[in-house]
Amino acid sequence: MKPLSIYIHIPFCKHKCAYCDFVSFDNRTDKTSGYVDALCAEIKDAGIKTAETIFIGGGTPSLLTNTQMSKIFTYLPKASEITVEANPNSVTAAKLRHWFSLGINRISIGVQSFNDEVLKTLGRTHTAEQALKSIKLACECGFRNINIDLIHSVTTKPVQIPSEVFKYITHVSAYCLIIEQGKPFKPIPESASLDQQKQIELILAINGFEKYEVSNFARKGFQCRHNLAYWQPQTHEYIGFGLAAHSFINGKRISNTENLDAYLSLRAERNNLPRTPGDLSAETIMLGLRTTRGVEVEYFKNKSAEIKFLKELKLVTECDGRIAATSKGFYVLNLIIEKLT
Ligand SMILES: C[S@@+](CC[C@H](N)C(=O)[O-])C[C@H]1O[C@@H](n2cnc3c(N)ncnc32)[C@H](O)[C@@H]1O
Repeated sequence: MKPLSIYIHIPFCKHKCAYCDFVSFDNRTDKTSGYVDALCAEIKDAGIKTAETIFIGGGTPSLLTNTQMSKIFTYLPKASEITVEANPNSVTAAKLRHWFSLGINRISIGVQSFNDEVLKTLGRTHTAEQALKSIKLACECGFRNINIDLIHSVTTKPVQIPSEVFKYITHVSAYCLIIEQGKPFKPIPESASLDQQKQIELILAINGFEKYEVSNFARKGFQCRHNLAYWQPQTHEYIGFGLAAHSFINGKRISNTENLDAYLSLRAERNNLPRTPGDLSAETIMLGLRTTRGVEVEYFKNKSAEIKFLKELKLVTECDGRIAATSKGFYVLNLIIEKLT
């Protein structure tokens, strides 16, 4: 049996951020209690006995009350890495302590930026100081594995990360702002964006963080095992519960409805998205090359000319039977993936 990861989606927010294209609502919080019931029914039906990792994301899971969170946990198996996403505005000491008592051992805080002007531009409702306070609070309440999410390339201002933050955190997800259609943002010049990405990578490297995926950095021993499961579809499976949640089981990709009312009716069907072995191999290459581990060389049997060419350009290397992008290669990763799939 392959190791199983569980994802749980909580689609409610106090305030929907201007850039966010995830399935989440800021005007349906009155449905939270019914949603938790539907979620528990869905988890119970699946009858899962063991899992490696659990990730509760959103939306804003930190909006759930302690009673609601406890209820969800009565239906979940034990797991060695359990993460909850939290917003700096909605974490309190009481919530953090309760989560810790439920076995949650990893917190992911949506900081996005330590620059108040950038936070305003993003439409965030917290300040950098509040974000720092929430990180400290998580540590004071017992958490020793803390991620912060950052978004760069919002403005051309250089990225700042206060040194104090590094006393508490073990992991950073640093995303480039993705501007979906209809969102009120203008992309900054590509060269400025690349500079910010490199600047973040240097700040993190100096502070002892190793890059292990395009946007993810960790101290030794703190790579997110849940993320790693997503990126290794040949050896891992995951099941998603809740609105719009995706699963990958027995070689099949399945997605839940994105319609909240249909989901709440407990009759929502899961959509089966059939996958051929060819799709699976392309996905393995696409996801695996995003990580610094890369992908087993066997996946490139029909691509030896392309591999030779990319090696000559020092964009990929071969080590221990795996092909991986070099640090130069990571800056043109999409082109490499296009050539190899
Ligand atoms: C699903 S969101 C949940 C965040 C959480 N609700 C909060 O407010 O802190 C997870 C992360 O995805 C990233 N993200 C969301 N939309 C993005 C976008 N358009 N571009 C880049 N990153 C984005 C943010 O860093 C965010 O923290």
